[in-house]
Amino acid sequence: MKELDGRVAVITGGASGMGLAFAHRFAAAGMKVVIADIEVPALEAAVDGLREAGADVLGVRCDVSDAGSVHDLAAAVDEAHGAAHVLCLNAGVASTDTLDQSSLADWEWILGVNLMGIVHGLDAFLPGILARDEGHVVVTASVAGHTAYPGLGPYSATKHAAVAIAETLQNELTASGSSVGATALCPGFVRTGIFTSERNRPEHLVDALAEPPTDEDIATREGFLEMIAEEAPLPEVVADMVHDAVVSQTFWVFTDDRHVDSIGNRHEEIRTRTNPTEARTIAEDTFSRQGDT
Ligand SMILES: NC(=O)c1ccc[n+]([C@@H]2O[C@H](COP(=O)([O-])OP(=O)(O)OC[C@H]3O[C@@H](n4cnc5c(N)ncnc54)[C@H](O)[C@@H]3O)[C@@H](O)[C@H]2O)c1
Repeated sequence: MKELDGRVAVITGGASGMGLAFAHRFAAAGMKVVIADIEVPALEAAVDGLREAGADVLGVRCDVSDAGSVHDLAAAVDEAHGAAHVLCLNAGVASTDTLDQSSLADWEWILGVNLMGIVHGLDAFLPGILARDEGHVVVTASVAGHTAYPGLGPYSATKHAAVAIAETLQNELTASGSSVGATALCPGFVRTGIFTSERNRPEHLVDALAEPPTDEDIATREGFLEMIAEEAPLPEVVADMVHDAVVSQTFWVFTDDRHVDSIGNRHEEIRTRTNPTEARTIAEDTFSRQGDT
């Protein structure tokens, strides 16, 4: 999409982190932005901040795991602007646990937001974007959509699905000769609120039987958050990449090269029918490559 000025960007998970950075970047390019999010105080603060920056912004409370809520968002966009052009299916949550420790509540929460959120977004917005033959769909996946690190099962399952959905969309756009573009955004670690995702977990999906964290768990987590604060890029850096991908119709966007070897090894293991060997966690793999961005 070469011409963004005056067009409309709709961003789920737009109240914080990468989604909020996308909103600022697209607004700076002259777009009207609609940010949708479940976290109302953050949403209100985000709308205020965007307005102060001169943006034409609409904030909509939306739970992407609920099809009706996403259709209400589409109706609000239609009423305000008549169309959506850039659609960022970005809302997401994460938790870390081995498969034997992941409860059904964990699975339901993560699949509901990260996978069904994308499905609901496509269901509500894609037919309109295709009919106008103008626009771009950005699916926020992850490097976890190309790997299978221990301790990230439900999250990786949703991100592999996100990659598959985005790639299928791109192939269908090509097959039909559409002018619409697609991007699979596959970030490594980025300095955002994803590491406190539990703040948005609905009460009925809280894992009542989860063991409280041990002192060792707490110390490991603190060390990890320090590494993120020191080494992970800011969401604004990713927002520039996404803006450029929309304008240039670039499909694959990776935010760093730290996982290239792991992804390459996995592809080679699949090609040669070798048993999987990735025994490190994503944090161990990422931060074993000091200074490599
Ligand atoms: N930060 C990273 O290291 C990283 C890496 C790879 C991929 N990602 C992906 O990036 C996307 C954006 O996350 P982020 O890192 O900016 O984290 P973030 O927590 O700052 O932003 C995620 C947003 O999604 C919203 N959200 C959560 N549940 C929702 C729901 N049910 N309905 C609507 N909105 C909901 C949150 O309120 C929040 O504003 C996610 O899909 C995440 O999986 C993040």
